[in-house]
Amino acid sequence: AIALIFVIIFSYLLGSISFSYLIAKKIRKVDIRQHGSGNAGATNTLRVLGVGPAVAVLSLDILKGIAAVWFGVLLAPDNMGVFPALAGFAAIIGHNWPIYYGFRGGKGVATTIGVLATLVFLPALIAGIIAILSIIFTKYVSLGSLIFVIGTSIVTFIMGDYPDAYFYLTIVVALLSLWRHRTNVQRLLSGNESRIGQKTK
Ligand code: G3P
Repeated sequence: AIALIFVIIFSYLLGSISFSYLIAKKIRKVDIRQHGSGNAGATNTLRVLGVGPAVAVLSLDILKGIAAVWFGVLLAPDNMGVFPALAGFAAIIGHNWPIYYGFRGGKGVATTIGVLATLVFLPALIAGIIAILSIIFTKYVSLGSLIFVIGTSIVTFIMGDYPDAYFYLTIVVALLSLWRHRTNVQRLLSGNESRIGQKTK
């Protein structure tokens, strides 16, 4: 139990490191959360700072999800998958509600990509390809994000050969992501969601 608590706390603290916040502060001296959509994530970094910084934020936020899961794997006493799943979940919670920045973070998509690609690689790859195609065709990153998290959950279920803890994680993560994207969903439904490559939102 001590090891599990340690893994969860460490992963939460790791997930709390917000690379969009840090990079925006560093190169533009702004709080990313006061610009664009106000979200501390890669998509809003693209909007506010451009492609280079956005790719850096996306990569680093993905890496922190991967690192948290591996930390869980290393400390796991068995192969039930509970440690890595909870480590990944804690990192996503940290990204969304970071302890260092007043608990106002992002929507957790990049961190979730890192977590799911590590735990359920093939479902994440399949859902990821569909999500990327949908973003290319619609220019809605939020829609692609939701297709990715929900799609990964569905493909994990269909394949059926992953630890239960991983499957449950995909469900919880998809629900969490829907909740974090609730204003995006409203805008998608009313046709007001911002598209990437557009100046106005
Ligand atoms: O990963 C977040 C993305 O799905 C939406 O971001 O800034 O458009 O709300 P944003």
